[in-house]
Amino acid sequence: MKSLKLALSVAVVTMLSTSAFAAGPHDSVTCLGCHSTHFAVDDKIFAVKNTVMKNPLTKKSFDGLIAKNCLGCHELTQFGGAGIRPVHMHTTHPIGMVPNPKIASVPQTMLNDGKLDCVSCHEAHPSNKNFMYLRVDTGKDGENIQNLCAVCHDAKVDLGSAGFKKVSDIKIFSAMDQEKGSGFFSRDKVRIQNKTTSYVMPLGKVGANDIMPNYLNQPDWVYAPTVNPLADFKTKKSTKRTTTKVK
Ligand code: HEC
Ligand code: HEC
Ligand code: HEC
Ligand code: HEC
Repeated sequence: MKSLKLALSVAVVTMLSTSAFAAGPHDSVTCLGCHSTHFAVDDKIFAVKNTVMKNPLTKKSFDGLIAKNCLGCHELTQFGGAGIRPVHMHTTHPIGMVPNPKIASVPQTMLNDGKLDCVSCHEAHPSNKNFMYLRVDTGKDGENIQNLCAVCHDAKVDLGSAGFKKVSDIKIFSAMDQEKGSGFFSRDKVRIQNKTTSYVMPLGKVGANDIMPNYLNQPDWVYAPTVNPLADFKTKKSTKRTTTKVK
């Protein structure tokens, strides 16, 4: 009986501590907020895509980069995003280039087809517990942000005070290896992606009919999460950063 009680209390404590353990905001986006099993608009069966914003660096579209998908949500609405925590690309760390080795030494495994992408710095899957879904542990509130910069700009970082002997000691998060599982990998072993077949295509204008739903307007019987981040985010105050008032 005593052991049963103990087992129960351990179970309760474990449940409490895991649920109290800060669920990241992408938990409520759910898998189907980013991936659509039947009504995808882009590779990796992505559910959203920014078709408006051009890369201010290359003056070209974000085709070939995951950026176009992230920016389907995280760009200002007038630039094709959903205005959710927008990182307007004109004011953002550059992406979409093959890195100049004088400026950054990025491991090939963190690049997307040889180019810097959002996923070089972020791994946005809910399994990533790091601050801001960064690929490096930078502390609870990002107080050790230099640990991230050091991965690619180590010539500029005081590695010793950051607690590292060499760059390769910095562990990088990845969820892109189903066989190895999600976790931290060394700089040369980390993967950002496994190439999946590219086949998702826009269907063009198809009128709604009884046999085939109108793919341009997702039919209302498609599974939609009860917490719809696209509809609710404006009223939700979810983070310290956006709610802190300047005194
Ligand atoms: C915030 C958006 C986002 C959410 C939420 C999300 N994913 Fe992903 N997922 C991505 C991105 C981005 C990629 C491609 C990453 C890359 O290629 O580096 C991806 C890739 C994948 C892949 C392909 C992996 C590969 O090797 O190519 C699978 C499988 C997957 N996700 C499953 C899931 C599941 C299951 C969930 C829910 C637990 C989920 N995703 C939630 C953004 C998301
Ligand atoms: C379907 C919409 C959607 C997509 C696509 C999406 N996100 Fe998000 N993301 C959200 C929402 C919703 C939040 C929480 C917004 C809030 O705080 O109100 C969020 C928050 C974040 C945050 C802040 C995390 C925190 O702890 O405060 C980061 C970083 C982020 N997203 C990165 C990404 C990256 C990188 C991608 C592409 C791989 C991506 N997101 C794709 C909806 C999306
Ligand atoms: C060079 C690394 C790097 C790249 C590349 C990068 N990010 Fe970030 N991102 C960060 C860091 C560091 C933070 C946390 C500091 C901050 O909020 O400015 C952050 C924060 C964010 C946030 C939260 C902003 C908020 O409201 O506080 C979002 C959303 C986000 N990134 C999305 C993206 C998207 C989308 C891309 C690709 C277009 C991208 N990031 C590319 C490093 C990067
Ligand atoms: C995953 C690798 C990576 C990480 C992590 C990273 N950067 Fe970069 N950074 C790059 C690349 C690649 C470039 C562009 C090189 C080029 O122009 O070819 C760059 C460029 C820059 C530039 C020059 C920008 C310009 O407009 O000329 C600055 C400044 C910079 N990064 C600061 C940072 C800071 C600060 C951090 C940490 C918060 C950081 N970077 C994290 C890869 C990275």
